[in-house]
Amino acid sequence: MKENKFLLLDALQNHYAVGAFNFATLEVLKAIVKGAEIQNSPIIAQVSESALEFLGDDYLKEIIKSTRKTCKVPISFHFDHGKSFESVKRAIKAGCDSVMIDASMLPFEDNVCITKRVVDYAHKHSVFVEAELGSLAGIEDDINVSDKNSFYTSPKQAKEFVKLTNVDSLAIAIGTKHGAYKFGGEAKLRFDILEEIEKQLPNFPLVLHGASGVDSNDVNSLYDLGVDIKGAKGVSEEILRKISKTNVCKINGDTDIRISYLLGILSNIKNNNSNIDYRRYLGSGMNEVTKLIMKKLDVYNSVNKAK
Ligand code: G3H
Ligand code: 13P
Ligand code: ZN
Repeated sequence: MKENKFLLLDALQNHYAVGAFNFATLEVLKAIVKGAEIQNSPIIAQVSESALEFLGDDYLKEIIKSTRKTCKVPISFHFDHGKSFESVKRAIKAGCDSVMIDASMLPFEDNVCITKRVVDYAHKHSVFVEAELGSLAGIEDDINVSDKNSFYTSPKQAKEFVKLTNVDSLAIAIGTKHGAYKFGGEAKLRFDILEEIEKQLPNFPLVLHGASGVDSNDVNSLYDLGVDIKGAKGVSEEILRKISKTNVCKINGDTDIRISYLLGILSNIKNNNSNIDYRRYLGSGMNEVTKLIMKKLDVYNSVNKAK
């Protein structure tokens, strides 16, 4: 709790955002930590429900313990998109100091109810809690305005939600979407809604999910290596720089890591087609992830913010 709360409040006060990056293997975690250490940036490493399943609870627990011991920058381990009270309990047991309960798909009252239950339990264990209000389902251009508005976080509801749940941070929906295909047309976020949320919840830590950039050069390079995600589009660097100066003080990314890791691995295999030592191609993937993290931390203005 102390770790995540300290990280987010410092970012809020000093107008930067902490990078929160997903991992599902030790290699990817090591690559993320290396990028943060080079940039001297605080960092949040996060696992989803399926990543926890993939790693295994006991392995994750040991990985968290040893990373905490060796990491040279402040690090928080966060559970991303917990869908139930039970899964959050499981993540806390595995050593996460911060959890997300994502009941954003439920009606407001039910979201409040489950979030409050998680907050009560987590706070007893000194664990920080993030919740979500609004939908990151993706807002297609052909949806009418009133339907569109129902996807975004309502600023008034956000204030009510925080008051009723005592949650520590809030993920908001202002137009992003998970995965590689975020925007059919022009990439735009609702900064007006963000401003209203900031007015309703002054000095409160906000979180942006679905923030990967999906670099078009990477999309083309992947295509040349046989991976087709043509037409994929993410959030521009310009938007992310702007967001980092607002009360959004945690920015989530996973898709960009997947892209960089895969690019590193595939290009290494292509250029060394008689190599069968996985350390070489995984190492190349890890290097790409480290470079990506360094770049992201610069965009989020969090370089040299480790304290
Ligand atoms: O927000 C979702 C993350 O990208 C996690 O995805 O459930 O496939 O691990 P995952
Ligand atoms: P991206 O799919 O944009 O990387 O978002 C990941 C995320 O929000 C994890 O919670
Ligand atoms: Zn997310």
